[in-house]
Amino acid sequence: MYSEKVLEHFMNPRNVGEIEDANGVAQVGNPKCGDIMKMYLKIENGIIVDAKFKTFGCGAAVATSSMATEMVKGKTIEEALQITNKAVAEALDGLPPNKLHCSVLAEEAIKAAIEDYLSKQKQQTQN
Ligand code: FES
Repeated sequence: MYSEKVLEHFMNPRNVGEIEDANGVAQVGNPKCGDIMKMYLKIENGIIVDAKFKTFGCGAAVATSSMATEMVKGKTIEEALQITNKAVAEALDGLPPNKLHCSVLAEEAIKAAIEDYLSKQKQQTQN
């Protein structure tokens, strides 16, 4: 069974959409089910000031993306990199065991979007 929080974030997902001037963007896929999540981050002075996502996936994937974007906002890159799928699932009062893999997508999307940001920064300093 899903917790109330999971259902609530599924019905009213926060931060759905795109950020036009995002400076960290990544798309990750879940090999188990084929669902995909695209994450947009806006990072200023090492702080994530905005986060949005688009998820083509199950209810648990939508709820975890919603919670994950809420959790990273206002955090430093270092803090955001510490967020695990377990932490996201716990913030939602847990996920059914067979749905835990869905929360991995959220963790991976955040990490990949931050990596995208960092690699762009590197390119800029090299030029
Ligand atoms: Fe694919 Fe949940 S079943 S992310």
